[in-house]
Amino acid sequence: MRIALGSDHGGLNLKKEIILHLEKKGYEIKDFGTYTEDSCDYPDFALQVAESVVKKEFDFGILVCGTGIGISITANKVPGIRAALCSDTFSAHATREHNNANILALGERVVGKGLALDIVDTFLNAEFQGDRHQKRIDKITKIEEKYSK
Ligand code: RB5
Repeated sequence: MRIALGSDHGGLNLKKEIILHLEKKGYEIKDFGTYTEDSCDYPDFALQVAESVVKKEFDFGILVCGTGIGISITANKVPGIRAALCSDTFSAHATREHNNANILALGERVVGKGLALDIVDTFLNAEFQGDRHQKRIDKITKIEEKYSK
């Protein structure tokens, strides 16, 4: 499975831990940055990861900023992206099963490393349940189409 990762400076350290964790498990990963602790803008990294996921270059994206909020808001502006900000494992599997989320967002200043890695594993191992949930996702897509230029 191919995973695209991105963060701003506020999510850099947690992103590094997630990369080590995923590499140990044999995932193919690409880190779109940021690579240093210098202050930067989370939309720059959210956009790159979101576009790579929409283009199907990766199966899923993982985005990290201080809260996970700014980076998930940005990713959700890209049509076809369903980015879910999760701080617990229930939400992590529910958003795959019900929303077919294709990006997981995390807040480094919100969740500790242990919980964050459990959330990552839970998200990546859960499966979309389709059926009535697909009908609801189709409605999200219609809204995207309505507001696309
Ligand atoms: C950066 O200081 C911080 O604002 C950012 O990481 C994120 O929390 C924004 O939503």
